[in-house]
Amino acid sequence: MTRNGSAELIGTSRQFVALTQEIDRVARSDAKVLITGESGVGKELVARAVHSRSTRAHRVFVPVNCAGLPETLLESELFGHVKGSFTGAYRDKPGKLEIADSGTVFLDEIGEMTLRMQGLLLRFLETGELQKVGSDASGGRVNVRVVAATNRDLRELIGLGQFREDLFYRLNVIHLVVPPLRERKEDIPIMITHSLKSFSTRGDYSVRSIDADAMAALSEYRWPGNVRELENVIERLVVTCRNEEATLDDLPHEIRSRHEGTHRPRRERRRTIADDLYKRLVEDRESFWTAVYPLYMQREITRSNVRDLVGKGLQEARGNYKIVAQLFNLESRDYKKFLNFLRKHECQLPFREYRDGHSAQQAS
Ligand SMILES: Nc1ncnc2c1ncn2[C@@H]1O[C@H](COP(=O)(O)OP(=O)(O)OP(=O)(O)O)[C@@H](O)[C@H]1O
Ligand SMILES: [Mg+2]
Repeated sequence: MTRNGSAELIGTSRQFVALTQEIDRVARSDAKVLITGESGVGKELVARAVHSRSTRAHRVFVPVNCAGLPETLLESELFGHVKGSFTGAYRDKPGKLEIADSGTVFLDEIGEMTLRMQGLLLRFLETGELQKVGSDASGGRVNVRVVAATNRDLRELIGLGQFREDLFYRLNVIHLVVPPLRERKEDIPIMITHSLKSFSTRGDYSVRSIDADAMAALSEYRWPGNVRELENVIERLVVTCRNEEATLDDLPHEIRSRHEGTHRPRRERRRTIADDLYKRLVEDRESFWTAVYPLYMQREITRSNVRDLVGKGLQEARGNYKIVAQLFNLESRDYKKFLNFLRKHECQLPFREYRDGHSAQQAS
């Protein structure tokens, strides 16, 4: 972490260096910025960099997640409200735009705003005047720099009538595109080294480095969840790897298997139902409760499919059910519920067989 609580931007690829140069140029002006890119590419980090390299750096950076709140709450969150304007409004409350005065407001996931909210935001951008919820009078003017981000294609949303074109042009004065990791593969090894260092110093862990084969597999992987996924993979590696140097065998199945597929041709194995389910959970990041549980309850899939799926998870997690729950995108508070489900339906496999890499699959 550096000043303003912003983490440093890491990357040496041509694309990434061009982006950081653009950030420096953009930071000098006060123009509105729209940041786009896939999920997990670093849009928020880029927004923080625009702020911390600008003349507003000593003032506040105020993030607002436009997807996290229902419309009426988002309106009061952004513009503030006056006492008594709705049930629970016990006192006047300033909005984030007012709090961000002379600083930067970061409107994250702008593509999720309702059309009415988009109208209110547009009015603010045109006049600079705050209209608090429950007040007829203007709440005064503020001087904020607006940086917005989305992983949606706003032009497509405009075509669908879900995003206002006039707002799009207001926000899109400067457009920063954060490229996905797979388009700047040179950045992968240094990000891995950086993550490895930061996670391994947080506890008493063995792993210190990653061997060349494993690094090659990590660099070739598609990273659909980009930097956030990379950080998760390295954190899991740090927790599960028992050796000082991690090898291919220590990597998650989906990363290892692609690599093996390209380098050591093997006998084709038919994809099983468990493979498909596993992919939906681990790669497409669906939750066990929505992707697997209903299918099982409606008898679309069998107990043995679920057992195979759990086996794949355990193999990946080296027998650690907590990590299986993470892999299957369960909230930590659902861990007990998950184990209860497995127990009740006789899908809880003995974890010991999966410790130290001695999985049933490898043994057979
Ligand atoms: N270039 C980078 N250098 C270092 N860390 C990075 C970089 N890019 C992203 N990260 C890290 O990756 C994680 C995801 O970044 P961030 O939250 O900015 O992504 P995002 O694009 O806003 O994702 P989402 O669309 O899911 O909101 C964070 O932990 C961030 O610190
Ligand atoms: Mg984000």
